Amino acid sequence: MSAELWADVARKMNGHAYMEGVERPVDRVRATGEIFTPTALVAGMPAALPLERFAPGKTILDPACGDGQFLVAAKWVKILHYGLSEEAALRDIYGVDIMRDNVDLCRRRLGGGTIVMGNVLDPKAILEGQTEQDIDYMRRLFADESSDRFHAGDGRRRRLERDAARAGFVPLTLGI
Ligand SMILES: C[S@@+](CC[C@H](N)C(=O)[O-])C[C@H]1O[C@@H](n2cnc3c(N)ncnc32)[C@H](O)[C@@H]1O
Repeated sequence: MSAELWADVARKMNGHAYMEGVERPVDRVRATGEIFTPTALVAGMPAALPLERFAPGKTILDPACGDGQFLVAAKWVKILHYGLSEEAALRDIYGVDIMRDNVDLCRRRLGGGTIVMGNVLDPKAILEGQTEQDIDYMRRLFADESSDRFHAGDGRRRRLERDAARAGFVPLTLGI
C-alpha cells in the first residue's frame, strides 16, 4: 500500500480515539485480551497481506475484531483504492467478537458489515447477549456439524485459518 493511501486510511480511522467508547476494567481486559491494535500498527497490515486481498468481492474476516481497528482500515482500502461504494465495501467485511459491546461498537464504527457476537474457539457455544442472528451466523461461518473439532486443543488456530480460507475469507488476525 502506498504511503499516500495509508495516510488517507489513517485519517479516516483517526475519528475514533484508540480504545474509546467502551469501559474496559483491568479484570475484563485480562480475561478477554482486549488490547487493540494501534492505528499506526494497522499500517503493517499490507506487509502481511497483498493489496489484491482487498479487491472487490474479497471477503475480510477478523475473528477477534474488537472495536474494528483492522476492519475499518480494510473498508477504507476497498473504498479509497478500489473505488467501491461504502455499501459494496461493507458487503465484504466480517467480524466476530465475544463481547457484545465490542460487536456493537465495531458495527457502529463501520456503519454496517456482518459483525457477529460469538466465541470463535467454541463457535457452537451460546453466549448470553447473543441474538438469533448471531447464532445463525456463527453456524454459517464456522460450524461443521460432523465434528466437534473446535473443542480440540492443539492446532485449533491453524484449523480456523484453514476453514476461513476454504470459505473464501481472509482471516486478518487471530490475536486472541
Ligand atoms: C487483542 S484484541 C484484537 C482486536 C482487533 N483484532 C485489533 O487488532 O484491534 C482481541 C479481541 O478478541 C476478543 N476475544 C477474546 N476471546 C475471544 C473468543 N474466544 N472469540 C471471539 N473473540 C474473542 C476480545 O473481546 C478482543 O476484542
